[in-house]
Amino acid sequence: MPEGPRALLRTAVDAAFTSVDRGMDRSRVEEAFLGTLGFSGWQLGNASAVLAEEARIGHAPVTRVENACASAGFALRAGARAIESGERDVVLVVGLEKMSDSPSPHRRYWLGVSGDTEWERLAGLTFAGVYALMASRHIAEYGTPREALAEVAVKNHANGLLNPNAQFHKAIDRAQVLAAPRVADPLGLLDCCPVTDGAVALLLAAEEVAKPLTDTPVAIAGTGAGSDALALQERDSMTSLAATRHAADEAFRRASFDRSTVGFLEVHDCFTIAELLAIEDLGFAAPGEAARMTLEGVTARNGRLPVNPDGGLKAKGHPIGASGASQAYEAFVQLRTSAGPRQISGVERALTHNVGGSGASATVTLFERV
Ligand code: COA
Repeated sequence: MPEGPRALLRTAVDAAFTSVDRGMDRSRVEEAFLGTLGFSGWQLGNASAVLAEEARIGHAPVTRVENACASAGFALRAGARAIESGERDVVLVVGLEKMSDSPSPHRRYWLGVSGDTEWERLAGLTFAGVYALMASRHIAEYGTPREALAEVAVKNHANGLLNPNAQFHKAIDRAQVLAAPRVADPLGLLDCCPVTDGAVALLLAAEEVAKPLTDTPVAIAGTGAGSDALALQERDSMTSLAATRHAADEAFRRASFDRSTVGFLEVHDCFTIAELLAIEDLGFAAPGEAARMTLEGVTARNGRLPVNPDGGLKAKGHPIGASGASQAYEAFVQLRTSAGPRQISGVERALTHNVGGSGASATVTLFERV
């Protein structure tokens, strides 16, 4: 029997508390944030109360955050800001989505609800379709080879093989990606993230509170966020997400380090083109250059700048409202050198990047080993 949303929440929150090195009582949680789209109409109203109940955090306030696929990224940002401001000492951040149990036509509807209704959804455009338009434009402007898109999927599936929490444990090669059935040309089945169930819980604590709880804390060094027009045709560019650029600039302004010391990236690769756009918009490659980096193996797990060592949304899966929290989890385990066989050696700093829908909202979070 597959787990329902309440069981997913409970499992994730229990795991977060049991993984605190020296233990923490639930009564210490002063506030919580829940990122979820509420796929399939699950608990459209008052989902925050369900988290309070399942997490057993007494009467601490819970706020639901809904920014499509960036819901958990924005929930994490809200939690980090609550602590940074001095308002709270311990905050629980949870991301949740249960997607697999809705039938196919229903799924298409719920996958579409975060797109622009008047210009995109009513015209029949899906998210795969929107990203296919971006990919086509990127190919036209920069000569981006389709092999580079395919290599994103190949690399992320290879990384997913080493992640016990990944949805797919299956190696694929470039020829398979290129030959897969088309979903929205130039994107095929293996260029797409899947439909996924998942929940992730994160416990954030003020520095002085965290110190006695663990010998290997990980700090949030900076957060940033940005927005853009919902419909693609209202944006300045189709080959770059301004919300991501804005979020990254803000996060680095708030952190005490620059891009040159970031050891790996967890980016929002909902479709293969999205990973290339992210590397460029986050400022780790010039426009049009991420394809070459990818083909040269720079972004592989053992490359100079690993991208999506957990398998990314492509292979780990994309439970919409939870993905931003799962990226933070990867930053946490990698920086504590507890990522097991997928551990990247010598990493001190990490960046996570979470995008809402086709790019109308984005968050960037910077993490540092203390
Ligand atoms: N990558 C790799 N394999 C996939 C896959 C994916 N993204 N999606 C499905 N599969 C596999 C399934 O495991 C299944 O394999 P099996 O036959 O060996 O069991 C097979 O393909 C058919 O699965 P099914 O669920 O029937 O596929 P589908 O055609 O209904 O859906 C997509 C495929 C790509 C349309 C669907 O995964 C999708 O809509 N993805 C995008 C989700 C999205 O838009 N998220 C928001 C992003 S902004």
